[in-house]
Amino acid sequence: MKGLILSGGRGTRLRPLTYTRAKQLVPVANKPVLFYGVEAIVAAGIREIGVVVGDTREEIQAALGDGARFGAKITYIEQDAPRGLAHAVLISEGFLRGSPFVMYLGDNLIADGISSLVDEYRRIGCNSQILLAKVPNPEQFGVAELDGDRVFRLTEKPKNPRSDLALVGVYMFDDTIWEAVKAIRPSARDELEITDAIQWLIDHGKTVHPHLVSGWWKDTGKIEDMLEANRIILDTFSPNGLAAVDSGCRVEGKVVVEEGAKLVRSIVRGPAIIGAGSEIRDAFVGPYTAIGPDCLIDRCEIENSIILRGSQVVSIPGRIADSLIGTNVRIHPGAERPRVHRFLIGDNSEIGIV
Ligand code: DAU
Repeated sequence: MKGLILSGGRGTRLRPLTYTRAKQLVPVANKPVLFYGVEAIVAAGIREIGVVVGDTREEIQAALGDGARFGAKITYIEQDAPRGLAHAVLISEGFLRGSPFVMYLGDNLIADGISSLVDEYRRIGCNSQILLAKVPNPEQFGVAELDGDRVFRLTEKPKNPRSDLALVGVYMFDDTIWEAVKAIRPSARDELEITDAIQWLIDHGKTVHPHLVSGWWKDTGKIEDMLEANRIILDTFSPNGLAAVDSGCRVEGKVVVEEGAKLVRSIVRGPAIIGAGSEIRDAFVGPYTAIGPDCLIDRCEIENSIILRGSQVVSIPGRIADSLIGTNVRIHPGAERPRVHRFLIGDNSEIGIV
């Protein structure tokens, strides 16, 4: 089998972070979301992986390289514009044809990986396997309707969903998909939808096997989902005790401290991760926080947040919570006089003050 990871697209719901970086490279527990997908595919025994890239191709390529560090061989496939998931499949035919494949959406995270799902697909011998999960907000996903354990209808982001079963961003296909992606036409939002291609398979008597996902799964397209994924992954960590911790510190629970990080007169309450080279000084880092590498957290309190590389948060009164702070951001008190709020903030940022 081969793998296909979709890492193009625009990531509008994660702006402003995605003005300057690919949404698939925003880190969860200090690791880019995309890496979890590559690792899951490799763990399922798949080595040949195609990665569909768009405008952010250089950044994705710099992060994944040739795949050797993951034990994979990566081939990049360029998509000229985000014309839909089925379009991404269509342009990958040269790479994939002749081999069944697993398609993985680069912004999805799935508990326990995909090895057992790939095994199940191989064992059953169906044309396609899709994963479904019950969600409270099906209108934001592709939605499946089942008759017993047979899928009979798939609808992309329906206004009035007739089921609460969402399509998870991991799909398995054999060569029957080629006829399907060539037969379908663009949807109302002008994309070639993978849901339409799978519906085509169903309508043409091909076997589409639904697998109901029982563990957690996250589409990390929105900030709340990123924070939740961060919480879930941090919870799986074990403390590593690597810290240069001075005697005035308290480190409680599952705390991972990366190489060269320094804790001074601070409390770090896990689950949390402190990135390489970061310094936590006279501060409180609370549960479910991922501090990226080379950050400075000084005289402030922060919890349930993600802070990216090189950012500094200094001397902020009140606790910072539920925040996603980009790279090289500086939050600090202004000059004494005049006592003003001073902001230098990019488009589509959001700031909540007490
Ligand atoms: O997360 C599961 C959902 O993913 C499914 O329930 C939906 O049926 C499916 O359409 C998809 O919906 P999204 O709106 O979340 O898809 P999004 O546009 O975020 O794209 C998913 C990934 O694929 C993302 O990493 C970007 C990449 N992509 C997307 C498009 C449209 C591409 O590489 N090329 C594209 O043309």
